[in-house]
Amino acid sequence: MSARPSQMHQITAIYGSPRRRGNTATLLRRAVEGARSEGLTVAEIFLRDLKMSPCLEIYGCQRDGECAIRDDFQQVRDTILAAQGIMLASPIFFYSVSAQVKILMDRFQSQWVKKHWIEGQPMGKSRRLRKGLFLSAGATQGKKLFDGALLSVKYFFDVLDTELWDYKCFRGLDYADDIRQHPDHQTEAFGAGAALARALNLNKPED
Ligand SMILES: Cc1cc2nc3c(=O)[nH]c(=O)nc-3n(C[C@H](O)[C@H](O)[C@H](O)COP(=O)(O)O)c2cc1C
Repeated sequence: MSARPSQMHQITAIYGSPRRRGNTATLLRRAVEGARSEGLTVAEIFLRDLKMSPCLEIYGCQRDGECAIRDDFQQVRDTILAAQGIMLASPIFFYSVSAQVKILMDRFQSQWVKKHWIEGQPMGKSRRLRKGLFLSAGATQGKKLFDGALLSVKYFFDVLDTELWDYKCFRGLDYADDIRQHPDHQTEAFGAGAALARALNLNKPED
């Protein structure tokens, strides 16, 4: 993890693009600024910098829900599950999420196994303990451009007991700095981050 997460963070922000300063990274940075402007703490994870194997489908997790592959996944998982809010950003690659994000999703199959096979939680009745925001960008204009990614994210968030609380997906962004021509999109991302922070309701004084 390029930035070590604090133990006390309230939101985990996951940068899923191979581009360090591309469109979705800019959008997520704005959303993080929005959340911080509301006084919440955010841990940032840059997937491109991590060593994470794809799922090998060996189901070593069947014993106790722990993934048998030991790499950066365990720390990422703990950082994600420690927070009440999740922000995930991914570009659209072939109508889905980036490979980096897909690897993360698939490694969470160990958590799915823990919940449903080991702890016996019924499927389709996920708890909604967390709120999640998804940010995305694609180059083209197609109506269905984000459908595939949104479906994957919805079910990924389900494993994390996370409601897909909001999403902001922007078309027509291709080159890394295209987002600079769209301060409106950046403002929207900032607003979504701030709104998520408020919705988490974590800074309310106790009665
Ligand atoms: C491997 C790859 C696959 C892509 N697939 C699509 C696609 O299916 N539809 C689309 O509109 N754009 C596609 N794009 C373009 C990216 O979605 C677009 O450039 C996006 O703005 C990148 O975001 P980023 O700068 O955050 O990485 C693809 C780009 C790459 C590198």
